[in-house]
Amino acid sequence: MAKIIEPKTARIQLRQWRPSDLEPFFTMSSDKQVMKYFPATLSRSESDGIANKCQSLIAENGWGVWAAQLLETNEFIGMVGLHKPSADLPSSGSVEVLWRLARPHWGKGYATEAAAAALRVGFEQLNLQEIVSFAVVNNHPSRAVMERINMHNTGKTFMHPDVPAPEHLREHCLYKISREHWAAKCA
Ligand SMILES: CC(C)(COP(=O)(O)OP(=O)(O)OC[C@H]1O[C@@H](n2cnc3c(N)ncnc32)[C@H](O)[C@@H]1OP(=O)(O)O)[C@@H](O)C(=O)NCCC(=O)NCCS
Repeated sequence: MAKIIEPKTARIQLRQWRPSDLEPFFTMSSDKQVMKYFPATLSRSESDGIANKCQSLIAENGWGVWAAQLLETNEFIGMVGLHKPSADLPSSGSVEVLWRLARPHWGKGYATEAAAAALRVGFEQLNLQEIVSFAVVNNHPSRAVMERINMHNTGKTFMHPDVPAPEHLREHCLYKISREHWAAKCA
């Protein structure tokens, strides 16, 4: 078991998952707007399976895709963190930063704030050389988060091998941030 890293920002605690997160995570995962750029909304067992997988990867590695909790209200607001994709992607083994928030928590800067904290863990504690992120090409809210955390659009797109058709959900754009760029812009 690794020592668990749980980054905190001004407004958000990124932390290990708890059984009480499963219900609000399912509410979020069954919201069609939240899942607009994914093949489908999730069933309760699919949603629990993802939360449990995130929990066990954090327990094993000390980092991963954390549950995001609002400090002010203690509410579960979504998931944000770092993940090593298992699929064979053009990002060649790099760790990705990702986010998914429940709809009531959009438009408040929480994804950007939490993602910046995840990048800091990646560069300062895990000593990564680069971090990538990818999204369906027309997922502009997610691309805006990438840009706000100073990620660079590589201009490359690829067909995600794990996403079943339709095609418009398969084509992903690829963003990156190097350790040097992060240190110059964000450290
Ligand atoms: C992607 C996603 C997290 C982006 O959410 P978001 O609310 O647009 O992003 P942020 O949390 O960073 O908030 C930024 C917005 O809050 C506003 N904001 C309000 N108060 C703010 C504050 N105190 N600080 C910073 N920004 C603030 C910003 O102006 C910005 O608004 P704008 O988009 O109108 O310019 C959200 O759309 C989502 O969960 N989508 C579904 C899942 C998904 O697609 N995930 C990505 C898969 S690749």
